[in-house]
Amino acid sequence: MLILGINSVYHESSACILKDGKLIAFAEEERFNRIKHGKEALPSNAHELPVNSIRYCLSKANASPKDIAHIAYSFNPLKRSTVRWPKEEYVAMDWGSPEAERVFLDSLKKVQVKLEELGFNSKIHWIDHQVAHGASAYYYSPYKESAVLSLDGIGESDSTALMYGNNESLITLETISYPNSIGFMWEKFCKFLGFSEYHACKLMGLAAYGDPGVYKKEFAAILKLREDGSFSMDNDILKFRSADFTSLENLFGFVKRERKDPLLKHHENLAACLQEKTNEIVLGLARKLHKACPSSNICLAGGVALNCVSNSHLLENGPFKSVFVQPSANDAGTSLGSASYVWHHLLRNEKSPAVSKQVYYGPDFSEGEYEEALCKNGLTYTYHKNIEEVVARLVSEGQVVGWFQGAMEFGPRALGNRSLVADPRNKKIREILNVKVKHRELFRPFAPSVLEEKASEWFKVQDGAYPNYFMLMINPVAEDKAGVIPSVVHVDGTARIQKVSRESNPKYHKLISHFYDITGVPLVLNTSFNDDEPIVCSPYDAINTFCKTRIDYLALGNLLVERKAQTAALRLDRQEPAPQDNTKEDNRE
Ligand SMILES: [Fe+2]
Repeated sequence: MLILGINSVYHESSACILKDGKLIAFAEEERFNRIKHGKEALPSNAHELPVNSIRYCLSKANASPKDIAHIAYSFNPLKRSTVRWPKEEYVAMDWGSPEAERVFLDSLKKVQVKLEELGFNSKIHWIDHQVAHGASAYYYSPYKESAVLSLDGIGESDSTALMYGNNESLITLETISYPNSIGFMWEKFCKFLGFSEYHACKLMGLAAYGDPGVYKKEFAAILKLREDGSFSMDNDILKFRSADFTSLENLFGFVKRERKDPLLKHHENLAACLQEKTNEIVLGLARKLHKACPSSNICLAGGVALNCVSNSHLLENGPFKSVFVQPSANDAGTSLGSASYVWHHLLRNEKSPAVSKQVYYGPDFSEGEYEEALCKNGLTYTYHKNIEEVVARLVSEGQVVGWFQGAMEFGPRALGNRSLVADPRNKKIREILNVKVKHRELFRPFAPSVLEEKASEWFKVQDGAYPNYFMLMINPVAEDKAGVIPSVVHVDGTARIQKVSRESNPKYHKLISHFYDITGVPLVLNTSFNDDEPIVCSPYDAINTFCKTRIDYLALGNLLVERKAQTAALRLDRQEPAPQDNTKEDNRE
């Protein structure tokens, strides 16, 4: 039986296919259409389906639309239509206005029509959004039973859900609704501090530089944490669905930062306070959930679950021995969650065996396809049977290598198949990477991929911390090692590691093993293979990014492309400026 899971309600559109409950294919639309987050979250476009992702999933399953028995959609229009919204200021046709709500519900009605136009006549299941998040974590986790927490912006009206999973069942115990929303709080503060609403990861990095105590009193005016672990927010000040920041400006005593403005101490302090309060909210919710279902395990999803710092805080201080975070915890993961919910909860099939270290369900390509793409672009290349060893040596010599291998990973982190790899020992590599490719702010840390068997020698690795396989926790770096790998250690002495196991990614494991043999360091710097664009998906995307940036080498499977060996036109397409310290600038929005 084939089940197609779809997310297209807001953004981060995606699709997946389960065959008899087993995940066959899963990919985000942004990787195909090359639009970040797949599409803009507008009230009018829920019916813009992730057609490229759907097409890919069907082809991977060797199926046509008529073969799909069930379609699971990660939103419930019926539930949304009954929501009574709190009164708030709005701009007509913007989220929050009655007009926009009508347009949104109309757009959701068109989803079925669009599916029929694509040739589907399957049974459609409309799954509650927070259930879809929770299911994406629980059914993908290694646990037979677990507490489940969805930490989100908004679904139908819920922002947060406390759930319990036991074998095939996933039950919602309690929900918290808009405007009490941790996700929206982060979006609002992202904008207040001059970033886009999608840049929570920047604030998380910035928070490590600040003092969380400075704005404690002011924060208490907008966030109430209750004894029982629940929380509430003052939307008269926060004004979530509005571009008005005056109340926040009055509260914190400084004006909204614009993108080009320098980052100052008060920005860092506010980010630090936001992070600390988030840690407290998540811990409070986890304790509340543990009282209702005293499991040893907890599964997390929803965009807020991508916060490595609060995930680590929860495992260190919370009542659960083991934590699992869905690698695609944002809305993209809800296609997987809704499909899994249909298979397990609605069709009463036992929970599948754990697949917790595996994320490689996207498109992969043959050597012939690599060669064709390289030839069409006029690039010369060499074949290396031992590409892992060759690349390890290049990285140890300071080269930046685009490492494009096998099937694309899902989730917002590149986990060794669409990655840029570099030498973590090189102090200057952050600047070099930023000049050559990434153009990120220097305050943001880069992350390491470390051999699973060596991880605990270099980092404090908590027991029961599955998110360490997906760069979703932070780990203090061993004191005697921090000086050896300066380019992957954040200002607070932590690193956001990816443990790499031989079983889940043998080729990447082999690359790092060779790097270890050469240098004595069992890890490489790993950042996503992209510039200011979605992570590369096809060889053509990889070649495009290689050509428009200053990456030194590109490894497509066993084929190696060297920038210096290419024509003068390619080599000189960009002048390479000297590295400079733009630590406190955010000029790449
Ligand atoms: Fe969501």
